[in-house]
Amino acid sequence: MRTPLVMGNWKLNGTKESVATLIKGIESAANAATNVEVAVCPPAIFIEQVANLTADSRIEFGAQDVSTNVAGAFTGETSPVMVKEFGAKYSLVGHSERRQYHNETDAVVAAKFVAIQENGLIPVLCIGETLEERETDKTFAVVETQLKAVVEVAGIAALENSVIAYEPVWAIGTGKVATSEQAQEVHAHIRSWLKAQSEVVAEKVQILYGGSVKANSAKELFAQADIDGGLVGGAALIIEEFVGIIEGAK
Ligand code: 13P
Repeated sequence: MRTPLVMGNWKLNGTKESVATLIKGIESAANAATNVEVAVCPPAIFIEQVANLTADSRIEFGAQDVSTNVAGAFTGETSPVMVKEFGAKYSLVGHSERRQYHNETDAVVAAKFVAIQENGLIPVLCIGETLEERETDKTFAVVETQLKAVVEVAGIAALENSVIAYEPVWAIGTGKVATSEQAQEVHAHIRSWLKAQSEVVAEKVQILYGGSVKANSAKELFAQADIDGGLVGGAALIIEEFVGIIEGAK
C-alpha cells in the first residue's frame, strides 16, 4: 500500500515569525503520525529557515518551483541544486498558478520535471482542468495531455520516483472542494492511464488531491482508493487546519 502524503503549499506567504510559529505548531502532529508523510513547500527564501526548524522532526520540505538551469545568467531563478543543498526532498512542478501567471507550457513543465529529478529531488507534478474544460467534458483529455507531455520527455519509468497532484483549477483557492467521488473518478483515471504503460508506476506513485482541502473534508477524500493524500494551500497556513488534515490521513 502507498503511504499517504500531506503536503502544504504555502505559496507567497509567510514571515520569519509566522514560519517559526507554523512549523512549531504542526511538528508534534507530524511526528506522531508515523504512517503519514508530511511536507511543506515554503517560498524559496524561507527554505533554509525551514531546514533548520525541521532538522529533528519528520517534516520534509520542498520548493514550489525551480529553474531548468542549475547555474548561470538566469536572474531571479532558483536552482534545483541549491534547493537540494539545503536538504529539500521535493519540488512542485507545473502548478496551475505557474502555468497561468508565468506561461509555463507542458514543454517547460517537462523540462523542469527532468531537472528536478536529475538533481536528486522528487518532482510533484501538478495537473488539472479548468472549470470550462470540466464543463465541456475535457477533464480526462486535459490530464492525459499534461501527463503525456512529461512521459514523452522523461520516460514512464521516471514517474516511479515522482508524486502526482491532481488539482482542478476551479477548486484552487475557491473554497469549492471537489466531491470525493469527483476526485476519485479522476484519480482512478490517472492511475489506469499510468497502468496501461507501467503497472509498477501505477501501483507506486502517490496521487494527491489539491483544491480547497480543509480539515473537515480531508478524511473522506483520503479514504478514496486512489487518493493518497493532499496538496494543501490556504489550510496549510493554519495550524489547526493542517494538523486536522494530517489526522485525516492517518
Ligand atoms: P487551496 O488549498 O488554497 O485551494 O490551494 C490548493 C493548491 O493550489 C495547492 O497547491
